[in-house]
Amino acid sequence: MIANPRRPEQIRAMFARIAHRYDLMNRLMTGGMDLRWRRHTIRACALPPDARVLDVGAGTGDLAAEALRQHPAAFVVGCDFTLPMMLRGREKPGRDRIRWVGGDALRLPFPDGEFDAVVSGFVMRNVADLDLAFREQARVTRPGGRVACLEAIRLPPRWWTPFYRFYFHRVVPWIGAIVAGDRAAYTYLPQSVEDFFTLEELAQAMIRAGLILLETRAFLFGAVGLVVGVRP
Ligand SMILES: C[S@@+](CC[C@H](N)C(=O)[O-])C[C@H]1O[C@@H](n2cnc3c(N)ncnc32)[C@H](O)[C@@H]1O
Repeated sequence: MIANPRRPEQIRAMFARIAHRYDLMNRLMTGGMDLRWRRHTIRACALPPDARVLDVGAGTGDLAAEALRQHPAAFVVGCDFTLPMMLRGREKPGRDRIRWVGGDALRLPFPDGEFDAVVSGFVMRNVADLDLAFREQARVTRPGGRVACLEAIRLPPRWWTPFYRFYFHRVVPWIGAIVAGDRAAYTYLPQSVEDFFTLEELAQAMIRAGLILLETRAFLFGAVGLVVGVRP
């Protein structure tokens, strides 16, 4: 089990504070690359046209919206415990088609086997009990359905690690202070990644939740990972 040392109330308050600049910050920090990673995440779910999809920790709903873009007839639920993130997302064009639900990733308010796929983007670092969160995602996925986790992951040391650390620990908090007015939130971001799993460890956590590992994929020189499992 990996436990985030911050309390859920602190996590929720932090995302509530930055909700108004969250999407802009993502585009700036990743140079827009996150949109490509999200496309891959939804494609990796191999959804039928009328799929039922759950985006856990949906935030402003970027993954949910990508699911609807690729599969306009899908039934897509975005679930999060930070209301201001979802309210912000709902204002964006086309996102009134997402079914927004308030809920905790550690106690998902859905019956067993409800979804063809459960996706999450940059959420699992933030939860208090990652193993429980994966078990919940496995529970609400139908047998044969997929769970896809897109996350920033801890990098093994490489020759360019000092440059990456400089960008992540110095430049990102500075951009966060200027654009989102919240240096603390964007200091937490690199710290939470350093405290988190490697891609291999994230895959192992999915396996511990009873899922069969289907795919792991690294983006941005391994700084972002996608892990996909199938419920037996
Ligand atoms: C970094 S944002 C990611 C938002 C979105 N998934 C994306 O890809 O941009 C993390 C989101 O996870 C949500 N979150 C964190 N812990 C949660 C929990 N235990 N239950 C529900 N949502 C949670 C936060 O409220 C926040 O909106």
